[in-house]
Amino acid sequence: MKIVHLNGEYLPIDEARVPVNDRGYLFADGVYEVTPAYRGRLFRWDRHLDRMRRGLAAIEIGYDAAALREVKEELLARNGLTGVPVAYVYVQVTRGIAPRTHAFPNPPVPPSIYGFANEYLRPTRERWEEGYDAVTVPDQRWARADIKAIALLPNVLAQQAAVNAGVNDAIFVRDGVALEGSHANLFAVFDGVLTTAPRSNYILHGVTREFVIELADALGIPVEERAIQIGELRAADEVFLSGTTTEVRPLVEIDGAAIADGKVGQVSRALFDRFLEVVSGD
Ligand SMILES: Cc1ncc(COP(=O)(O)O)c(C=O)c1O
Repeated sequence: MKIVHLNGEYLPIDEARVPVNDRGYLFADGVYEVTPAYRGRLFRWDRHLDRMRRGLAAIEIGYDAAALREVKEELLARNGLTGVPVAYVYVQVTRGIAPRTHAFPNPPVPPSIYGFANEYLRPTRERWEEGYDAVTVPDQRWARADIKAIALLPNVLAQQAAVNAGVNDAIFVRDGVALEGSHANLFAVFDGVLTTAPRSNYILHGVTREFVIELADALGIPVEERAIQIGELRAADEVFLSGTTTEVRPLVEIDGAAIADGKVGQVSRALFDRFLEVVSGD
């Protein structure tokens, strides 16, 4: 059975219990991180740690996330995931357990830590080459989408809108600007220029986003970080999503209309090929 981490213990998932007064349960008062592991090695843990530290500081939870590296490695080992091509490890930190009242518990209580690991089954190359589809949805998130908060209701509703529409993904649009996916960052290619929303409080600063930009730089693909209007996105040469559990995922149809010729483009393919080479250590 799957072994999870809960507050310092490793135990079978069926035995893990969270008190009803955990502020994660009551208020979604916490942050999380999902880190990929390629053949058991955490990928860019330092970036994930930085982001978690920023999130914890922003919501004023006093916890040193550096300890989570060991938790992540232990979860991989205890679940037999050190040899699989790709796994991902989830950890969340909530403000802890206290009777329900909005303001922080005073004095502070120990934060609650929960983590699990899963294998990631990458789609076959044939499936990837078919491309994916998405719908656009209004961005109803709060103005701190850069914090990886466990409060994901707008993301849940967005992804359900995709499911209801019979498509793979959802893209958040705010004031006419296409920002990111429900659980991934968004890239478009215009005349050979790789384009993505700039880092701001309206998007999550994806570790994979940063990695893709570095890959583009190394491949000599020009990169521009700027707002993408929804009309522009529909007329892009290529569109793709990036994320830990998404890697590089080409979108060939948005809101029922084909992107360019409806086929996966060369820039997306070149970036994904290089991505795979790097993460598999070639
Ligand atoms: C809303 C959102 N944007 C972007 C990402 C991609 O971030 P990363 O590449 O760090 O996984 C995620 C990942 O879960 C996400 O939830």
